[in-house]
Amino acid sequence: MPLVSGRLLFEKANEFGFAIGGFNFHNMEFLKAILDVAEEEEAPVFLQTTETTLRYTTIDLLAGMVHSVKDRYRISFALHLDHGKSVETISSALRHGYTSVMIDLSHRPYEENLEITRRVVSICTPMGVSVEAELGRVEAGSEYHLTDPQTAKEFALRTGITALAPAIGTAHGVHKSEGKPELDFERLREIKTLTNMPLVLHGSSSVYYEYITQINTYGGEIKKAVGISEDDVRRSIDMGVNKINTDTDLRLAFISAIRRILWEDKTITDPRKVIKPAIEEVKEIVRRRIRLYRSSGTASLFG
Ligand code: G3H
Ligand code: 13P
Ligand code: ZN
Repeated sequence: MPLVSGRLLFEKANEFGFAIGGFNFHNMEFLKAILDVAEEEEAPVFLQTTETTLRYTTIDLLAGMVHSVKDRYRISFALHLDHGKSVETISSALRHGYTSVMIDLSHRPYEENLEITRRVVSICTPMGVSVEAELGRVEAGSEYHLTDPQTAKEFALRTGITALAPAIGTAHGVHKSEGKPELDFERLREIKTLTNMPLVLHGSSSVYYEYITQINTYGGEIKKAVGISEDDVRRSIDMGVNKINTDTDLRLAFISAIRRILWEDKTITDPRKVIKPAIEEVKEIVRRRIRLYRSSGTASLFG
């Protein structure tokens, strides 16, 4: 059965030294694009939804889609809650058959983050569901909130989490920093050495220049756009990152195509004529990222 616990994905990626893509989806089209490419690439994936996406649509529809296709694919994948902010959201995800969750209380005081994360672990572990947590802050200007390696070790031991998302200088979204983001690889190496656990890189989109250019060519106005270079993504894997989250790059691929298609053919009235080619662009990004993470061809490791 390909819908597996995130624990299996995290453990194998950590053991064999590669990263698995965590791809955010908000509708049927993105979900199918991610799964189809993962199958072609023989790569496992985390299918992720955020709380914003749960409010955009409904959790029963999102989880229902994943469960309804779970026997159609040969690859292993986890249904993962990305940046869950409360025990209530985690419980709802568990009721809907999520196999992996993230509890993100990185904005709360350390002790509160620790206590609630520990509680989430105690609920999820007996159900075989993996728990990812964040320490430090993944946001622009996060140099003030980078993860302290010793604290990371203590946090991991005291909570029993499956995977840790440390802050090493990345940020979410299109505009990540004033200049080129400087990732703190020494910090990452130390966190890996001290925790020896699967690590997750958030805010890791590369914000490819061609998509920003295309958006601006066809009526968009994105003035600042900075991403993480593919070399830095590779280096993070060399230093022990085992899951890499991508949301922004998928959005940019989709939106840039939509802008171009509608601009070029002003007679279109059928949404399918816009969405289908735009989804092809999303698929190209999923493929590019899966290859970058060195997870192509690893499906056989997961049984
Ligand atoms: O970290 C997650 C995101 O890229 C933000 O997602 O807009 O669905 O909350 P969201
Ligand atoms: P990006 O915004 O860089 O794609 O990061 C996505 C992410 O971390 C989702 O959790
Ligand atoms: Zn994130």
